[in-house]
Amino acid sequence: MKLLVTGGAGYIGSVVAYQLLAAGHTVEVLDNLSTGHDDGVPAGARLHRLAISEAGQVLDHSFDGVLHFAAKSLVGESVAHPERYWHGNIVETLHLLDAMRQAGVDRIVFSSTAATYGEAKVQNITEEEPAQPTNPYGASKLAIDHMLAAEAAAHSLAAVSLRYFNVAGAAFPDNGQVLAERHDPETHLIPNLLKVAGGEREAAAIFGTDYPTPDGTCIRDYIHVLDLADAHVRALEAAQPGSHEVFNLGTGTGTSVREVIEAVRVVTGHPVPAVEHPRRAGDPAVLVASGEKAAQRLGWHPRRSIKEMVEDARRALR
Ligand code: UFG
Repeated sequence: MKLLVTGGAGYIGSVVAYQLLAAGHTVEVLDNLSTGHDDGVPAGARLHRLAISEAGQVLDHSFDGVLHFAAKSLVGESVAHPERYWHGNIVETLHLLDAMRQAGVDRIVFSSTAATYGEAKVQNITEEEPAQPTNPYGASKLAIDHMLAAEAAAHSLAAVSLRYFNVAGAAFPDNGQVLAERHDPETHLIPNLLKVAGGEREAAAIFGTDYPTPDGTCIRDYIHVLDLADAHVRALEAAQPGSHEVFNLGTGTGTSVREVIEAVRVVTGHPVPAVEHPRRAGDPAVLVASGEKAAQRLGWHPRRSIKEMVEDARRALR
């Protein structure tokens, strides 16, 4: 297939673009490099340095589909500046969908998020769990999920929303490229812990130690970016005209902040001193996926452990 990957210079988009190329697809990347890096665009993919809302300049009938990653994605920022999320995610995506309709491109795989669920009432979140986001980031992604459902029903779009849990690790294509997280400032747990283990930072921060969890810290479902990318290749092929399907992408296993700190200590062999801080705004206590639907319908089985995620994230720093 000929595919447009928005956000293909960013962390997850670049790894998926790489996997799509490896699977034999033709890939063009749309990225304004606001947070992406041009050296992150995988070799073999052409880069269009444009905003999402300018996709109409690139899309034409020769494209078979779009994988839409470009987005604003920081929970804390979304609480402080929600307008950035209404504009950057919802309005920009509306323009993308207009451009797809006008160009007759009728297949999309969208980066949704576990943050659409908010505080889950069940241990393993299925796609049937009510979506009640606790922050504007999750709300903006949920709004797009609704847009895709309506667009599929009205205009026969083949649409899939993939709700990621906590993505970690990195990919190392044969040409020597390193496809990894490079955020500035870095807010994510594993890269920040690696900075402490590497001596770049004095101490890690634990945001909240009074959550209703066994060790008091937040529990998340960490998923390796290569496993995640594999689900995209499968979802793209499974998408059906007139249908919008949602899949949760996680391993089904929860890991607490303190357990991640321990994994980083074991992998690096360095101490990871941590200071306890109050809770961070917008963070739910527990987010763990049920992987059943993706296993049954996509034949998707994530394989990589939290240890491999930490090892690959560390290797990417060198
Ligand atoms: N945390 C710390 N210290 C840090 C950084 C994070 O204790 O220095 C904690 C957070 O409070 C949270 C957990 O570690 O409990 C994971 O935090 P991250 O910032 O790594 O990831 P988030 O869970 O906030 O967010 C990620 C994605 C979102 C997505 C969400 C869904 O970035 O896009 O997972 O769970 F919505």
